[in-house]
Amino acid sequence: MSTNIVVAIDGYSSCGKSTLAKALAKKLHFIYVDSGAMYRAVALYFLRQNVDVNDHTQVVEALKNIHLNFHSRDYQTHITLNDEEVSAEIRRMPVSDKVSAISAIREVRVEMVKQQQRMGRSKNIVMDGRDIGTVVFPDAQVKFFMTADPKVRAERRFKELLPTNPDITLEEVFENLAHRDYQDTTREESPLTRAEDAIVLDNTDFTPEEQLQFALDKVEPLMV
Ligand code: DC
Repeated sequence: MSTNIVVAIDGYSSCGKSTLAKALAKKLHFIYVDSGAMYRAVALYFLRQNVDVNDHTQVVEALKNIHLNFHSRDYQTHITLNDEEVSAEIRRMPVSDKVSAISAIREVRVEMVKQQQRMGRSKNIVMDGRDIGTVVFPDAQVKFFMTADPKVRAERRFKELLPTNPDITLEEVFENLAHRDYQDTTREESPLTRAEDAIVLDNTDFTPEEQLQFALDKVEPLMV
């Protein structure tokens, strides 16, 4: 009987986690799950419905009304929130500004982790996020912890955002990243931290091809 392989990729915001995760999944024919997109979709719902994050009852009620689904096409993230495609909207600044605070809420995390664990139960998957190797899949066969110089990360994200957010500035992106790093690493619930058995991948000076090769060298031996 063969067991499925789970590759967990954690790290700071805009470190290239999703670039690596997508490339790995494509190369190995694994399913790619962008766990950050799930928290972003929840944040979008909370924003639209004006959910008071300090009101426990409102949070629990809202979570009951949120139905998320991934539709995998070309290894890109296509996520629906109650049957509405929200893949583009969850990348915009209003969501980016709120998502860390919303992903720090315990009830939100419990629900998302449950859904994520279900996805990795029987299939080969690559999942990226902040707590994948520590909380969601502590037994994942391969774990990567990604990091890169904060300035390089801000420049990368700025270039990505500019086409759809023409008014954005590099400073704004840098600030947003710094703020999210702070919130993600200092929150009480499942803070971003490296699992003891995670392989550190600092890609400041790596091309996407080099980082893919680095990761393949760790995962492919498990597939024989
Ligand atoms: O990876 P991303 O930037 O799209 O993630 C959006 C936010 O969601 C990020 O600020 C932290 C949070 N997140 C989390 O808390 N746990 C995860 N597994 C994935 C994302």
